[in-house]
Amino acid sequence: MPATEALDQIVSQARDEFARAADPAQLEQAKARYLGKSGSITEQMKGLGKVSPDERRLLGAAINAAKDQIEAALAARREALQNAALEAQLAAEALDVTLPGRGRKRGGLHPVSLTLERIEQLFRSIGFEVADGPEIETDWHNFTALNTPENHPARSMHDTFYLEDAPGLLLRTHTSPVQIRYMQQHAARYAHLERMPEIRIIAPGRVYRVDSDATHSPMFHQVEGLMVGERVSFADLKGVVADFLRRYFESDELKPRFRPSFFPFTEPSAEIDLAFTSGPLEGRWLEIGGCGVVHPNVLRHGGIDPERYTGFAFGMGPDRLTMLRYGIADLRLFFDGDLRFLAQFQ
Ligand code: PHE
Repeated sequence: MPATEALDQIVSQARDEFARAADPAQLEQAKARYLGKSGSITEQMKGLGKVSPDERRLLGAAINAAKDQIEAALAARREALQNAALEAQLAAEALDVTLPGRGRKRGGLHPVSLTLERIEQLFRSIGFEVADGPEIETDWHNFTALNTPENHPARSMHDTFYLEDAPGLLLRTHTSPVQIRYMQQHAARYAHLERMPEIRIIAPGRVYRVDSDATHSPMFHQVEGLMVGERVSFADLKGVVADFLRRYFESDELKPRFRPSFFPFTEPSAEIDLAFTSGPLEGRWLEIGGCGVVHPNVLRHGGIDPERYTGFAFGMGPDRLTMLRYGIADLRLFFDGDLRFLAQFQ
């Protein structure tokens, strides 16, 4: 076989072996078989000494050309194996950037808190301050000072939560005791003045009764309102309440109903009713609060002279206002803590 043919064969054999090498180690072993100390090409080089100088020049050039081809094939295969390794690594470490992130969910206010904020905002805009009182009340502030006699049904064990080890203390059944606390403070603060500045407050907060059905919860909210001054009348009460309700429900059509009623701490007294205008309870009237002209005995307990000052008071249920505004038929949904329900109001 002529020497150049043998060289061509070596080159094509080397190419095949390089192509079959599956990893860099196999490739280096294959390389040794051609370019190593006793590799085919090296052996060919050694044979050069046995030929004539003319032949040596030609054969030497041919061997060098074959060596170059083998080295080129080796380099190409090395690169291919490197690329394959990189591809494999990239595939193994792949990140799916289309996965949704695990964000932190934003909290929100409870629908009743949203209503309370709205109520406070609307009353502040007509000059009412926001006042506060304790949820654990004395029997005196909750009942006696509010002209509620010893034998009144509200004072029964069935209607009120009493504190077992603290006689005289109970969970307030309404926000009306804040009337007494505020009047006393106010009267004392302005005792030195010839004329007491007007009282205009609302007192939102939690109240408690032994009661539980679709429109009653043992814990619920009230917003007390109190205005006391030199010529404050039932007409002012109707104006303030009706105006508030129209603004709260954003409707001038709304006609609240003042239904004559009785409370020990107001005289005359009325119940405030509103009708559902949509939703499952459409057309039904719902009582949303009580109101009336502050009873002289209540003013007296607040340290205010009933001969000189008069006032009105109301107590509304923001839970019920929220039900009416959103057309919700069951009050208990607000207090079950089901986020699927509560999150709808954000
Ligand atoms: N405190 C009364 C209740 O809880 C509501 C009310 C407040 C009535 C003020 C008249 C005046 O039912």
